[in-house]
Amino acid sequence: MDIARLKKLAGIGENPHFIQMPNPRHEFARRHHERMKLSMNESKPQKLELKKLAYETKDLEPVLSKDNVEYHYNVLSNGYVTRYNNKEGDPDFNYGGAMLHNLFWEQLQKADGSKPEGAIKELIEHRFGDMSSFIDEMIKTAMTIQGSGWVYLSKSGELKTTPNQSYKTDILMPIDMWEHSFTDYIPAKDAKGKYIKAMMTIIDWNQINMRMGK
Ligand SMILES: [Fe+2]
Repeated sequence: MDIARLKKLAGIGENPHFIQMPNPRHEFARRHHERMKLSMNESKPQKLELKKLAYETKDLEPVLSKDNVEYHYNVLSNGYVTRYNNKEGDPDFNYGGAMLHNLFWEQLQKADGSKPEGAIKELIEHRFGDMSSFIDEMIKTAMTIQGSGWVYLSKSGELKTTPNQSYKTDILMPIDMWEHSFTDYIPAKDAKGKYIKAMMTIIDWNQINMRMGK
């Protein structure tokens, strides 16, 4: 057998590109990507639940009217959960909508004059100085949302936004900035600002501390 034939059998052609050895780094990246995709899908449950409200729908007045809460909770929030469970529409959108709204409703309570305490108080003071600067910054951040979305305090104490119903794992305290959430404040010129200021009077700060693991 001549050399040329041996080379051919061994896959060694004249064109060096003929032999495509997998680049170990690319291969690692590809496998890592596949694993991440798999684990992200796996981390989403088959079914979601709309968390029960820990208060009556009228209890958030006058910050949120009974009508607003009933429509927002019973119809809209429930809709994300139902569509996700029935596999209707975009699963990511419905998953995010369900997760965000569950956090949103769970962190509210009847206004009782309570102020941030413990870990959340420390986080706000450390990052923003005081409550009123924190609220001002939240309003400023919320105003940067183009279209519909949420403003949120992240677990590391940053104010961020997320568009539409995009759920993020660093969300500590999300405030719904879709127009349906602040209908009670329309047509006030600064409806968003008034809504955010008022919302800060019905936050269950203990719930936020629990999310922080405190
Ligand atoms: Fe909403």
